[in-house]
Amino acid sequence: MGYRWRGMLAATALWAVAACAWAGQVEVLHWWTSGGESKSVEELKRLLASQGHTWRDFAVVGGGGDSAMSVLRARVLAGNPPAAAQIKGPAIQEWGRLNVLADLEEVATLQKWDAQLPRVVADVMKVNGRYVAVPVNVHRVNWLWINRDALLKTGLRVPNTWDEFFAVAEKMRQIGIVPVAHGGQSWQEFTTFESVVLGVGGAEFYRRAFVDLEPGALRSDTMSRSLQTFRRIKDYTDARAPGRDWNVATAMVIRGEAGMQFMGDWAKGEFLAAGKQPAKDFVCVSAPGTSRAYSFNVDSFAMFRLKDPAAIQAQKALAATIMRPEFQESFNLNKGSIPVGAGVRMDRFDLCAQESSAYFAATAMINTLVPSIAHLMAQPAGIEGAMREAVAAYWNNERMTTDETMTRLVAAAKPRLAKGIKP
Ligand code: BGC
Repeated sequence: MGYRWRGMLAATALWAVAACAWAGQVEVLHWWTSGGESKSVEELKRLLASQGHTWRDFAVVGGGGDSAMSVLRARVLAGNPPAAAQIKGPAIQEWGRLNVLADLEEVATLQKWDAQLPRVVADVMKVNGRYVAVPVNVHRVNWLWINRDALLKTGLRVPNTWDEFFAVAEKMRQIGIVPVAHGGQSWQEFTTFESVVLGVGGAEFYRRAFVDLEPGALRSDTMSRSLQTFRRIKDYTDARAPGRDWNVATAMVIRGEAGMQFMGDWAKGEFLAAGKQPAKDFVCVSAPGTSRAYSFNVDSFAMFRLKDPAAIQAQKALAATIMRPEFQESFNLNKGSIPVGAGVRMDRFDLCAQESSAYFAATAMINTLVPSIAHLMAQPAGIEGAMREAVAAYWNNERMTTDETMTRLVAAAKPRLAKGIKP
């Protein structure tokens, strides 16, 4: 005990001295380029600069991070990784197995990350029991965002079921509002689909399909019903949806041109950046049928192994800064997500965030907290990508049947089932 304590003190002292002596640069790869996202990332840059370190921005445009991940792979293969990259979920393990990630145990021990983080999050940040990544937030994916005026014009209440949702959508169409703002990119289609599956099938079915990859769930009546509900939503999107970015779709809801959007709560960051307030200007409600469930998406930064001592110090400072309660508070106030570390008070957060925070805890207790498949929390990129393409193909090609789609979903899951690996 005494020995461990002395060790910790020595590590603290060493780290503090080193941090003052070496002001370094961290190059950070991320895809936070929309209005609300940029505001959040500025906060991190500011806190790092206040410690004398410099932030070298490596922003790769593209919601959901597909392009960012391709660029990252090219950089690492070329032997020139950034200091930190926005990597999440099972991909952290994949990078860890390549032996290119830095060990963050020193900072993690000093700041007691194990005690601060929910187990479900901490486990994802570790490879072989050691921290290699640091979490920034928790996003809830299964939200529906509604323009309040548009809803009032329909004379209907906030929809909680699929029937109510389609009634609102129909009414919006009649009064000349695009019912559903959609960005026609495969990750956005998959984001909507995961909420539909959660709403139609419930959390247990979702887990069997997307976490355990059970063929009997991927091909089932419930999956077929989910696909049909998903396709019905498409009728309520506009013809200009293909290729549209998610934040452009959110802007349609903000302006009242469109009534609703299925999207994770990074969309709230856009409403806030546009000066809009929950309950007054917009409504956040669980996607139909999902009020007792929560699909989570944790943003995190994995750190790459570096040689330059000053850069290593700056990298450790970045990791430590991210876990500080003041960062977790200010970052998440803008980002739309909730803090992931313990010890952050929620009283400065709005209604949607408070609801998310309460649901995160409650759904963990009743076992309806599930990892987001569309946001790379449930499966490695290969499987997620194949499933996402199947779902997007179904959305975009009216002739593709539910049966064909389910066959593709089962096939997408095969590589992992064949290896017998449990996510
Ligand atoms: C990330 C969010 C981001 C969103 C849109 C998600 O996958 O987790 O942080 O705001 O993509 O780019």
